[in-house]
Amino acid sequence: MTETETVPADPGNRAADTAIHVEGVSKRYGSRQALDAVSLRIDRGEFFGLLGPDGAGKTTLVEIMEGLRQADAGTVDVLGGAPWPRNVALLPRLGVQTQSSAFFVRQTAHEHLATVAALYRADTAAVERTLAAVGLVGRRDTRVENLSGGQRQRLAIASALVHDPELIFLDEPTAALDPQARRDLWEVLRGLKEAGRTIVYTTHHLDEAEALCDRVAILVEGRIAALDSPRGLVGAAGAPTSLLLPPERMTVAEAEAVPGVDRAEVRGGSLVLETKVSGKVMSALDALGGLDGVQTRTATLEDVYLQLTSDATTGDIPHAQNTEHQA
Ligand SMILES: Nc1ncnc2c1ncn2[C@@H]1O[C@H](COP(=O)(O)OP(=O)(O)OP(=O)(O)O)[C@@H](O)[C@H]1O
Ligand SMILES: [Mg+2]
Repeated sequence: MTETETVPADPGNRAADTAIHVEGVSKRYGSRQALDAVSLRIDRGEFFGLLGPDGAGKTTLVEIMEGLRQADAGTVDVLGGAPWPRNVALLPRLGVQTQSSAFFVRQTAHEHLATVAALYRADTAAVERTLAAVGLVGRRDTRVENLSGGQRQRLAIASALVHDPELIFLDEPTAALDPQARRDLWEVLRGLKEAGRTIVYTTHHLDEAEALCDRVAILVEGRIAALDSPRGLVGAAGAPTSLLLPPERMTVAEAEAVPGVDRAEVRGGSLVLETKVSGKVMSALDALGGLDGVQTRTATLEDVYLQLTSDATTGDIPHAQNTEHQA
Protein backbone atom coordinates (compact mmCIF):
# COMPACT_ATOMS: atom_id res chain seq x y z
CA MET A 1 0.00 0.00 0.00
CA THR A 2 1.19 3.51 -0.71
CA GLU A 3 1.26 6.27 1.86
CA THR A 4 -1.70 8.04 0.23
CA GLU A 5 -3.78 4.89 0.66
CA THR A 6 -2.97 4.45 4.37
CA VAL A 7 -3.43 8.10 5.36
CA PRO A 8 -6.99 9.33 4.86
CA ALA A 9 -7.29 12.36 2.57
CA ASP A 10 -7.53 15.43 4.72
CA PRO A 11 -8.42 19.03 3.93
CA GLY A 12 -5.35 21.29 4.14
CA ASN A 13 -3.05 18.25 3.91
CA ARG A 14 -3.07 17.74 7.67
CA ALA A 15 -1.41 14.38 7.17
CA ALA A 16 1.90 16.14 6.42
CA ASP A 17 1.78 17.85 9.83
CA THR A 18 0.59 14.76 11.66
CA ALA A 19 3.02 12.56 13.55
CA ILE A 20 0.47 10.06 14.86
CA HIS A 21 -3.11 9.37 13.86
CA VAL A 22 -5.03 6.83 15.89
CA GLU A 23 -8.61 6.09 14.85
CA GLY A 24 -11.06 3.87 16.72
CA VAL A 25 -8.39 1.81 18.46
CA SER A 26 -9.60 -0.87 20.86
CA LYS A 27 -7.73 -3.49 22.86
CA ARG A 28 -9.04 -6.19 25.14
CA TYR A 29 -7.11 -8.47 27.51
CA GLY A 30 -9.44 -11.34 28.42
CA SER A 31 -12.49 -9.71 29.97
CA ARG A 32 -10.68 -6.39 30.43
CA GLN A 33 -11.42 -3.70 27.82
CA ALA A 34 -8.13 -1.77 28.12
CA LEU A 35 -8.89 0.62 25.23
CA ASP A 36 -12.32 1.39 23.85
CA ALA A 37 -12.43 3.12 20.43
CA VAL A 38 -9.72 5.70 21.11
CA SER A 39 -9.11 8.32 18.41
CA LEU A 40 -6.54 11.09 18.49
CA ARG A 41 -4.13 12.97 16.30
CA ILE A 42 -0.72 14.21 17.45
CA ASP A 43 1.00 16.92 15.40
CA ARG A 44 4.64 16.89 14.41
CA GLY A 45 6.62 18.93 16.91
CA GLU A 46 3.97 18.54 19.55
CA PHE A 47 4.63 17.64 23.20
CA PHE A 48 1.66 15.40 23.93
CA GLY A 49 0.75 14.11 27.38
CA LEU A 50 -1.21 10.98 28.20
CA LEU A 51 -2.69 11.12 31.69
CA GLY A 52 -5.01 8.87 33.61
CA PRO A 53 -5.30 6.62 36.67
CA ASP A 54 -3.40 3.33 37.02
CA GLY A 55 -4.88 0.85 34.57
CA ALA A 56 -6.54 3.52 32.39
CA GLY A 57 -4.83 2.16 29.26
CA LYS A 58 -1.95 4.63 28.77
CA THR A 59 0.81 2.04 28.37
CA THR A 60 -1.39 -0.11 26.15
CA LEU A 61 -2.06 2.85 23.86
CA VAL A 62 1.61 3.89 23.79
CA GLU A 63 2.75 0.34 23.03
CA ILE A 64 0.26 0.12 20.16
CA MET A 65 1.66 3.37 18.74
CA GLU A 66 5.21 2.04 19.18
CA GLY A 67 4.35 -1.15 17.30
CA LEU A 68 4.98 -3.32 20.38
CA ARG A 69 1.35 -4.45 20.58
CA GLN A 70 -1.36 -5.14 18.07
CA ALA A 71 -4.71 -3.36 18.38
CA ASP A 72 -7.85 -5.51 18.15
CA ALA A 73 -9.58 -2.87 16.05
CA GLY A 74 -8.94 0.56 14.55
CA THR A 75 -6.13 2.10 12.51
CA VAL A 76 -2.79 3.53 13.62
CA ASP A 77 -0.55 5.71 11.48
CA VAL A 78 2.87 6.73 12.80
CA LEU A 79 5.07 9.05 10.70
CA GLY A 80 3.13 8.03 7.61
CA GLY A 81 3.28 4.25 8.11
CA ALA A 82 1.60 1.50 10.09
CA PRO A 83 3.65 0.40 13.15
CA TRP A 84 2.11 -3.11 13.08
CA PRO A 85 3.08 -5.64 11.75
CA ARG A 86 6.56 -4.73 13.03
CA ASN A 87 7.71 -1.93 10.77
CA VAL A 88 11.52 -2.10 10.63
CA ALA A 89 11.83 1.07 8.54
CA LEU A 90 10.11 3.00 11.32
CA LEU A 91 12.31 1.82 14.20
CA PRO A 92 15.31 4.19 13.77
CA ARG A 93 12.89 7.12 13.64
CA LEU A 94 11.36 6.25 17.03
CA GLY A 95 12.81 6.57 20.51
CA VAL A 96 11.13 4.30 23.02
CA GLN A 97 11.42 4.21 26.79
CA THR A 98 9.01 1.59 28.08
CA GLN A 99 7.56 1.50 31.58
CA SER A 100 9.59 -1.62 32.41
CA SER A 101 12.90 -1.30 30.60
CA ALA A 102 15.31 -4.11 29.83
CA PHE A 103 19.09 -3.65 30.08
CA PHE A 104 22.34 -5.43 29.41
CA VAL A 105 22.90 -5.65 33.17
CA ARG A 106 26.49 -6.94 33.09
CA GLN A 107 27.64 -3.98 30.99
CA THR A 108 28.58 -0.59 32.35
CA ALA A 109 26.27 2.35 31.73
CA HIS A 110 28.58 3.56 28.99
CA GLU A 111 28.86 0.14 27.35
CA HIS A 112 25.11 -0.32 27.47
CA LEU A 113 24.45 2.99 25.77
CA ALA A 114 27.22 2.38 23.22
CA THR A 115 25.59 -0.97 22.38
CA VAL A 116 22.20 0.66 21.89
CA ALA A 117 23.83 3.42 19.81
CA ALA A 118 25.55 0.83 17.62
CA LEU A 119 22.21 -0.86 16.91
CA TYR A 120 21.02 2.44 15.47
CA ARG A 121 24.38 3.35 13.91
CA ALA A 122 24.65 6.44 16.15
CA ASP A 123 28.23 7.66 16.72
CA THR A 124 30.43 7.79 19.83
CA ALA A 125 29.88 11.53 20.22
CA ALA A 126 26.14 10.86 20.53
CA VAL A 127 26.85 8.39 23.39
CA GLU A 128 28.90 10.95 25.33
CA ARG A 129 26.41 13.74 24.67
CA THR A 130 23.45 11.64 25.80
CA LEU A 131 25.20 10.37 28.96
CA ALA A 132 25.87 14.00 29.85
CA ALA A 133 22.30 15.08 29.02
CA VAL A 134 20.85 12.60 31.55
CA GLY A 135 23.53 13.26 34.19
CA LEU A 136 25.22 9.85 34.08
CA VAL A 137 28.80 10.84 33.25
CA GLY A 138 29.86 10.16 36.85
CA ARG A 139 28.42 6.63 36.67
CA ARG A 140 29.57 5.75 33.16
CA ASP A 141 31.82 2.90 34.36
CA THR A 142 29.32 1.44 36.84
CA ARG A 143 27.68 -1.84 35.84
CA VAL A 144 23.97 -1.45 35.08
CA GLU A 145 23.10 -3.96 37.84
CA ASN A 146 24.81 -1.67 40.37
CA LEU A 147 23.02 1.53 39.33
CA SER A 148 20.29 2.92 41.58
CA GLY A 149 16.67 2.83 40.38
CA GLY A 150 16.75 6.47 39.33
CA GLN A 151 20.09 6.04 37.54
CA ARG A 152 18.69 3.09 35.60
CA GLN A 153 15.71 5.22 34.68
CA ARG A 154 18.11 7.84 33.31
CA LEU A 155 19.88 5.16 31.30
CA ALA A 156 16.54 4.00 29.88
CA ILE A 157 15.78 7.57 28.84
CA ALA A 158 19.26 7.92 27.32
CA SER A 159 18.66 4.71 25.36
CA ALA A 160 15.52 6.25 23.87
CA LEU A 161 17.33 9.44 22.86
CA VAL A 162 20.83 8.40 21.76
CA HIS A 163 20.01 8.02 18.05
CA ASP A 164 18.25 11.41 17.91
CA PRO A 165 14.84 10.05 16.86
CA GLU A 166 12.09 12.20 15.34
CA LEU A 167 9.38 10.80 17.58
CA ILE A 168 10.03 10.02 21.25
CA PHE A 169 7.81 7.93 23.53
CA LEU A 170 8.44 8.22 27.25
CA ASP A 171 6.25 6.15 29.59
CA GLU A 172 6.46 7.62 33.09
CA PRO A 173 10.11 8.63 32.64
CA THR A 174 10.26 10.58 35.90
CA ALA A 175 8.66 7.91 38.10
CA ALA A 176 11.95 7.01 39.84
CA LEU A 177 13.79 10.33 39.51
CA ASP A 178 14.73 12.64 42.36
CA PRO A 179 13.38 16.22 42.16
CA GLN A 180 16.60 17.65 40.68
CA ALA A 181 16.89 14.91 38.05
CA ARG A 182 13.24 15.47 37.18
CA ARG A 183 13.87 19.17 36.54
CA ASP A 184 17.03 18.35 34.58
CA LEU A 185 15.04 15.98 32.37
CA TRP A 186 12.44 18.71 31.77
CA GLU A 187 15.23 20.88 30.36
CA VAL A 188 16.48 18.07 28.10
CA LEU A 189 12.94 17.52 26.83
CA ARG A 190 12.32 21.22 26.27
CA GLY A 191 15.49 21.29 24.15
CA LEU A 192 14.22 18.35 22.09
CA LYS A 193 10.90 20.08 21.54
CA GLU A 194 12.69 23.24 20.44
CA ALA A 195 14.65 21.12 17.97
CA GLY A 196 11.32 20.04 16.46
CA ARG A 197 10.99 16.54 17.91
CA THR A 198 7.59 15.09 18.69
CA ILE A 199 7.18 13.74 22.22
CA VAL A 200 4.50 11.43 23.61
CA TYR A 201 4.69 11.44 27.36
CA THR A 202 2.81 9.62 30.09
CA THR A 203 3.03 10.78 33.66
CA HIS A 204 1.18 10.85 36.97
CA HIS A 205 2.83 14.19 37.81
CA LEU A 206 0.23 16.74 36.78
CA ASP A 207 2.54 19.68 37.47
CA GLU A 208 4.88 18.13 34.94
CA ALA A 209 2.15 17.76 32.31
CA GLU A 210 1.14 21.36 32.91
CA ALA A 211 4.73 22.59 32.60
CA LEU A 212 5.71 20.58 29.52
CA CYS A 213 2.76 19.50 27.39
CA ASP A 214 1.16 21.41 24.53
CA ARG A 215 -1.90 19.17 24.84
CA VAL A 216 -2.91 16.32 27.10
CA ALA A 217 -5.44 13.51 26.77
CA ILE A 218 -6.93 12.22 30.00
CA LEU A 219 -7.74 8.53 29.67
CA VAL A 220 -10.33 7.02 31.98
CA GLU A 221 -11.12 3.31 31.69
CA GLY A 222 -9.80 3.07 28.16
CA ARG A 223 -11.58 6.13 26.79
CA ILE A 224 -10.52 9.71 26.26
CA ALA A 225 -12.38 11.74 28.88
CA ALA A 226 -10.79 15.07 27.85
CA LEU A 227 -8.28 16.32 25.31
CA ASP A 228 -7.00 19.89 25.13
CA SER A 229 -4.14 22.14 26.22
CA PRO A 230 -3.70 22.16 30.01
CA ARG A 231 -4.82 25.79 30.02
CA GLY A 232 -7.87 24.97 27.89
CA LEU A 233 -8.88 22.13 30.20
CA VAL A 234 -8.52 24.27 33.32
CA GLY A 235 -10.49 27.11 31.71
CA ALA A 236 -13.30 24.89 30.42
CA ALA A 237 -13.73 23.10 33.75
CA GLY A 238 -14.70 26.36 35.44
CA ALA A 239 -13.03 25.11 38.60
CA PRO A 240 -13.20 27.65 41.43
CA THR A 241 -10.37 29.80 42.72
CA SER A 242 -9.55 29.38 46.41
CA LEU A 243 -8.72 32.35 48.61
CA LEU A 244 -6.86 31.45 51.80
CA LEU A 245 -7.26 33.70 54.83
CA PRO A 246 -5.89 33.53 58.35
CA PRO A 247 -8.69 31.73 60.26
CA GLU A 248 -9.05 34.51 62.81
CA ARG A 249 -10.13 36.96 60.11
CA MET A 250 -13.78 35.85 60.18
CA THR A 251 -16.03 32.88 60.89
CA VAL A 252 -17.06 30.35 58.25
CA ALA A 253 -20.61 31.78 58.36
CA GLU A 254 -19.30 35.33 57.82
CA ALA A 255 -17.15 34.13 54.92
CA GLU A 256 -20.10 32.38 53.27
CA ALA A 257 -22.06 35.64 53.52
CA VAL A 258 -19.47 37.53 51.42
CA PRO A 259 -21.04 38.11 47.97
CA GLY A 260 -19.50 35.77 45.38
CA VAL A 261 -18.29 33.12 47.84
CA ASP A 262 -19.67 29.67 46.92
CA ARG A 263 -18.24 27.72 49.84
CA ALA A 264 -16.07 28.32 52.89
CA GLU A 265 -14.34 25.96 55.31
CA VAL A 266 -11.32 25.77 57.60
CA ARG A 267 -8.71 23.52 55.95
CA GLY A 268 -5.02 23.05 56.66
CA GLY A 269 -4.93 25.95 59.15
CA SER A 270 -6.53 28.44 56.73
CA LEU A 271 -10.01 29.71 56.14
CA VAL A 272 -10.59 28.68 52.51
CA LEU A 273 -13.12 30.57 50.39
CA GLU A 274 -14.06 29.09 47.03
CA THR A 275 -15.28 31.47 44.35
CA LYS A 276 -15.71 31.77 40.61
CA VAL A 277 -15.50 35.59 40.84
CA SER A 278 -12.24 36.08 42.70
CA GLY A 279 -11.91 39.78 41.77
CA LYS A 280 -15.26 40.60 43.34
CA VAL A 281 -14.49 38.63 46.52
CA MET A 282 -11.02 40.19 46.80
CA SER A 283 -12.60 43.67 46.66
CA ALA A 284 -15.10 42.71 49.34
CA LEU A 285 -12.32 41.28 51.56
CA ASP A 286 -10.25 44.43 51.00
CA ALA A 287 -13.17 46.55 52.20
CA LEU A 288 -13.65 44.22 55.20
CA GLY A 289 -10.16 44.68 56.63
CA GLY A 290 -7.52 44.60 53.90
CA LEU A 291 -5.76 41.91 51.91
CA ASP A 292 -2.79 41.29 54.21
CA GLY A 293 -2.27 37.53 54.60
CA VAL A 294 -4.76 36.65 51.84
CA GLN A 295 -3.39 34.05 49.39
CA THR A 296 -4.89 33.09 46.06
CA ARG A 297 -4.81 29.57 44.64
CA THR A 298 -6.12 29.28 41.10
CA ALA A 299 -7.36 25.99 39.65
CA THR A 300 -4.72 23.64 38.24
CA LEU A 301 -4.69 20.70 35.89
CA GLU A 302 -4.74 18.51 39.00
CA ASP A 303 -8.16 19.90 40.00
CA VAL A 304 -9.53 19.12 36.53
CA TYR A 305 -7.93 15.67 36.52
CA LEU A 306 -9.40 14.81 39.93
CA GLN A 307 -12.85 15.99 38.81
CA LEU A 308 -12.70 13.82 35.69
CA THR A 309 -11.26 10.72 37.30
CA SER A 310 -12.92 10.70 40.72
CA ASP A 311 -15.72 8.39 39.54
CA ALA A 312 -13.35 6.02 37.78
CA THR A 313 -13.35 2.50 39.18
CA THR A 314 -10.16 1.36 37.43
CA GLY A 315 -8.07 -0.98 39.48
CA ASP A 316 -11.05 -2.69 41.07
CA ILE A 317 -10.21 -6.13 42.40
CA PRO A 318 -11.77 -8.44 39.74
CA HIS A 319 -9.99 -6.61 36.95
CA ALA A 320 -6.79 -5.89 38.83
CA GLN A 321 -6.26 -9.62 39.26
CA ASN A 322 -6.30 -10.07 35.51
CA THR A 323 -2.79 -8.75 34.96
CA GLU A 324 -0.87 -11.69 33.60
CA HIS A 325 1.36 -10.34 30.88
CA GLN A 326 0.96 -11.44 27.30
CA ALA A 327 2.05 -9.81 24.05
N1 LIG B 1 -0.32 -7.87 29.05
C1 LIG B 1 -1.46 -7.74 29.71
N2 LIG B 1 -2.25 -8.80 29.97
C2 LIG B 1 -3.42 -8.66 30.61
N3 LIG B 1 -3.92 -7.47 31.05
C3 LIG B 1 -3.18 -6.37 30.83
C4 LIG B 1 -1.91 -6.45 30.16
N4 LIG B 1 -1.41 -5.20 30.08
C5 LIG B 1 -2.29 -4.41 30.68
N5 LIG B 1 -3.36 -5.10 31.13
C6 LIG B 1 -4.56 -4.52 31.80
O1 LIG B 1 -5.09 -3.52 30.94
C7 LIG B 1 -5.47 -2.37 31.66
C8 LIG B 1 -4.69 -1.16 31.14
O2 LIG B 1 -3.32 -1.31 31.49
P1 LIG B 1 -2.20 -0.26 31.11
O3 LIG B 1 -0.91 -0.86 31.51
O4 LIG B 1 -2.39 0.13 29.69
O5 LIG B 1 -2.61 0.95 32.05
P2 LIG B 1 -1.82 2.30 32.40
O6 LIG B 1 -2.78 3.41 32.18
O7 LIG B 1 -0.53 2.34 31.69
O8 LIG B 1 -1.59 2.14 33.96
P3 LIG B 1 -0.34 2.65 34.92
O9 LIG B 1 -0.62 4.08 35.22
O10 LIG B 1 -0.52 1.80 36.14
O11 LIG B 1 0.94 2.38 34.19
C9 LIG B 1 -5.21 -2.70 33.12
O12 LIG B 1 -6.41 -3.13 33.68
C10 LIG B 1 -4.20 -3.81 33.08
O13 LIG B 1 -4.35 -4.66 34.19
MG1 LIG C 1 1.41 2.37 32.30
